[in-house]
Amino acid sequence: MIYFVAAIAGIAGFLFGFDEGVIAGSLHLLRGEFSITPVSEGLMTAAVPLGALFGALVAGRAVETFGRRALLLFAAVLFAVGALMSALIVAVWMLSVARLLLGLAVGIAALVAPLYIAETAPPARRGMLVSIYQLAITLGILGAYVVGYAFSDSWRTMFLCGALPGIALFVGMFLLPDTPRWLAMKGRSEEAGAAIARINAVAPTSPLVAAELEEIARIARDDRHKGSWADLVGPVVRPALVVGIGLFLLQQLSGINAVIYYAPVVFKEAGFGSASTQLLATVGIGIVNVAMTVVGMMLIDRIGRRNLLVIGFAGTALSLGMIAIAAVTDAAALDVLAMIGLVLYIAAFAASIGPLPWVMMSEIFPLNVRGIGMSAASLANWAFNFIVVFSFPPLVSSIGLGGVFAIYAVVCAAGIVFTLRLVPETNGVALEDIERHLRSGRPFRELGAPSQEPGRGGLAPAYSTPGVDKASGR
Ligand code: BGC
Repeated sequence: MIYFVAAIAGIAGFLFGFDEGVIAGSLHLLRGEFSITPVSEGLMTAAVPLGALFGALVAGRAVETFGRRALLLFAAVLFAVGALMSALIVAVWMLSVARLLLGLAVGIAALVAPLYIAETAPPARRGMLVSIYQLAITLGILGAYVVGYAFSDSWRTMFLCGALPGIALFVGMFLLPDTPRWLAMKGRSEEAGAAIARINAVAPTSPLVAAELEEIARIARDDRHKGSWADLVGPVVRPALVVGIGLFLLQQLSGINAVIYYAPVVFKEAGFGSASTQLLATVGIGIVNVAMTVVGMMLIDRIGRRNLLVIGFAGTALSLGMIAIAAVTDAAALDVLAMIGLVLYIAAFAASIGPLPWVMMSEIFPLNVRGIGMSAASLANWAFNFIVVFSFPPLVSSIGLGGVFAIYAVVCAAGIVFTLRLVPETNGVALEDIERHLRSGRPFRELGAPSQEPGRGGLAPAYSTPGVDKASGR
């Protein structure tokens, strides 16, 4: 059963990455077949993050009304229909509409799948399952790149491939029950008990079922003290909000999705002559992204968030600078420099700026506003993602690739200053202590400094906790 839940996590994350990455391999074919202006190219590509922004906005409420299972089934249908539509389009505006639907599905799944997992998985396995979800996003990007290389002459086949994981998600969710917590919230305690029994492979009369039902009721009682959006911008929580939204602003304006969505274009500008070498190099980027995400996940709890962020921002600023110089000078000998720069950039991003904002957003908000704080941060992620992806083609055609990457490099350099001045070290600090520190009114950045709170420390909020927190808002 638990592997089944893990598979759902994997498929949802995979689809997220796939629909982000699949446009990369298809753009050059689409350009040959339709007449596409830089603005319509940006719109068609950025339709996914735009749809995801709406998906995330709608899903927050709908998931409470209709349930986790119904929403994931709905997202699965959207994934399959969106893939089919993308494969059948006869005009570019149709592709924008199809990708808007896919984005809607991505936004819903990105919010509901981790919630579903956290509410069904036994506590000891939650961390592993949430990590699977994160990793699956990068595997989805890689999957899209591989499909782009394998079917390099048929963009319709590339898009159609996205229907398969969509169907798998539908079948999987069809066989699974809704989460015990949602069923109990709706007063369907008998079904909730049956779901607990099924998930844990015990008899419905087992004491474990009664204990979990009681725990769910206790959490529901606590939930009545939830904070509001106004609390989020109030003096206590504001420093956390600035860090949560700021990290996503920097993550996205570092230009990552200009590379993820338009990788072959970047390789072309960097001097890779044929479409097939551009696509192969793109697959290479996908592999580095996956591998370095694993490295990042291992480093996060070891060297601390602030150190890792500073290294990541410094690494991306330098490598983006290298690409910018290579692109501006346009000398053939500098193509190698651009290539090395791009690999270094992805490596630095994937090990640091990729996972860290997600990890930190689950740690920094006080209990009563954790749910909405995390929503605000993820909405910022989609909004800035849209801005970067939409603006990339028009920007390249006006100031050139070198100019655009120079802007991203400056953003990354600003990320170092932001981290040093505003980001707290949450590594090894209990979530309750983070909250206590915020309420004390001391600068957020001073958190974790040993002299501040003698005798404090507590258990490390390991990388494993986000899923737990995401689910319960605790
Ligand atoms: C970002 C995505 C990005 C991905 C690349 C994530 O952390 O939020 O926008 O596409 O990393 O691996």
